[in-house]
Amino acid sequence: MDNALGLGGDCEIGYGGEFFYVKDHGSGLDPELFSINRPLRSSKYLRLPTRGALGNGLRVVAGAVVASGGELYVSTRGKTYKIHWQKDGRALPECLGAYHEEGTKISLICMCCLGT
Ligand SMILES: Nc1ncnc2c1ncn2[C@@H]1O[C@H](COP(=O)(O)OP(=O)(O)OP(=O)(O)O)[C@@H](O)[C@H]1O
Ligand SMILES: [Mg+2]
Repeated sequence: MDNALGLGGDCEIGYGGEFFYVKDHGSGLDPELFSINRPLRSSKYLRLPTRGALGNGLRVVAGAVVASGGELYVSTRGKTYKIHWQKDGRALPECLGAYHEEGTKISLICMCCLGT
């Protein structure tokens, strides 16, 4: 949500069936950004004591999904991907089909979100 709001437009959040999702109308992203082993890199310049801008947010999301045995899907730049993580932490996006909307939709099921 922080990333979506940082793009300056609307952010939609929801819960459909088993999945939580966050949707924005931004420029889209590279699904490999969900790699847990990627270097801390951010495109953000405004750093405040109250926010990170460290390049860590997507890694934390990915870590929570992996650690709890969940699933994560990214729809962006015309395609929907399921993210698989390699043993070295790299995200391997599997293309599942077309995505016809602008921006990015991130859907996840994470056992810690469900409190189980
Ligand atoms: N929804 C999005 N749309 C477009 N680009 C995104 C989106 N989410 C993340 N990004 C890009 O991915 C980068 C990494 O995101 P991530 O959340 O990991 O770190 P950050 O937002 O830069 O810093 P932090 O989350 O630590 O405050 C961002 O700097 C941004 O360039
Ligand atoms: Mg972030």
